[in-house]
Amino acid sequence: MQELSLFTPYQLGSIELRNRIIMAPLTRSRADEYNNPTDLMVKYYAQRASAGLIISEGIIVSPQGAAYPRVPGLFEDKQVSLWEKVTKAVHARGGKIFAQLWHVGRQSHSTVQPDRMPPLAPSPVPITGATYYRKPQRLPYETPRELTQQGIDSIKNDFREAAIRSFEAGFDGVELHGANGYLIDQFLNSSSNQRTDKYGGNIVNRARFLEELVDTIGASVGFDRVAVRISPSSTWMDAEDENKLALHTYVAEMLSRKNLAYLHVVEPGIAGSQSTDTSMESVPSSALREYFSGTLMSTGGHSYLSANKAIETGVADLVGFGRLFISNPDLPERLQAGAPLLEPRRTGFYSGGPDGYITYPFLEEQLKEESRTV
Ligand code: PHB
Repeated sequence: MQELSLFTPYQLGSIELRNRIIMAPLTRSRADEYNNPTDLMVKYYAQRASAGLIISEGIIVSPQGAAYPRVPGLFEDKQVSLWEKVTKAVHARGGKIFAQLWHVGRQSHSTVQPDRMPPLAPSPVPITGATYYRKPQRLPYETPRELTQQGIDSIKNDFREAAIRSFEAGFDGVELHGANGYLIDQFLNSSSNQRTDKYGGNIVNRARFLEELVDTIGASVGFDRVAVRISPSSTWMDAEDENKLALHTYVAEMLSRKNLAYLHVVEPGIAGSQSTDTSMESVPSSALREYFSGTLMSTGGHSYLSANKAIETGVADLVGFGRLFISNPDLPERLQAGAPLLEPRRTGFYSGGPDGYITYPFLEEQLKEESRTV
């Protein structure tokens, strides 16, 4: 039997991926001020279409679900045709793309909420030790308003409608952002969920919001086109649980029964968008493998060697790269050629226009440029 590698194609349900090198979701803040995708974004995603699969940056399902400026949305019909430009450009280059659907919950702030009220979350527990960022001033986090059942139902509906719009816009699937201390993760973790109703208390209850979301969206668009991302090891934004392993093995088993497109696991050593020390109490994807029978994606701090090893040994089926896809639009070709990789510059991560966004060169351009300057 031929050995598996990052370059072995992968059948993801009915979607054929040309390799197993996945572009991880990355907030880049290049939408317009009304959360509309821009032509700059079309170019950026088109440049990266050689990934086996692109997962879009977090797309807010409602204005209430946003924390940062210039993140794109799919809460209005007019955003469908703008996203369609992105999916068409990726498909025209033989690529595939999922939409990551996002609600930030308590990471938002009244200054960016449509009703100027504090953000909504499972429980009125603020994030500590950090400040609201990427606004002109750094404001302290606020105590969020506790979601009512009606509020929960309304958010589930926003996710469902955004999922339906995603397919109208030509996305190949949707990934629910259940990681990094955002709304779904706030329900999962005991530190942020102190509810006494059916959404709080034991693990089954804390995972109920995620389960209901998956069921609602799966029933509307097909379970095999729905994926979930989790970050079992991360404590970023106070996403703390009293028993991370028990929580996440339950989540993996519960999701396994849903026959999803894939389960996406953020590996230890990642705090949001940054590298961090590996937590003592880490839950890597390998610890969840036996609990999830479907396609498993591992993302976070991978090198070419660690990624290939994960595929070869069957620990993961697909491997995501985030920061390296920022600075290497043609990452698969570079890995295959053993070519040097460019390091990303953080200054262009979230701000501004084309610079540091669509200006990283393809290998051929880089070599031409280098031969001109020697
Ligand atoms: C970020 O904008 O830094 C960010 C967004 C979503 C994440 C993590 C980090 O899940």
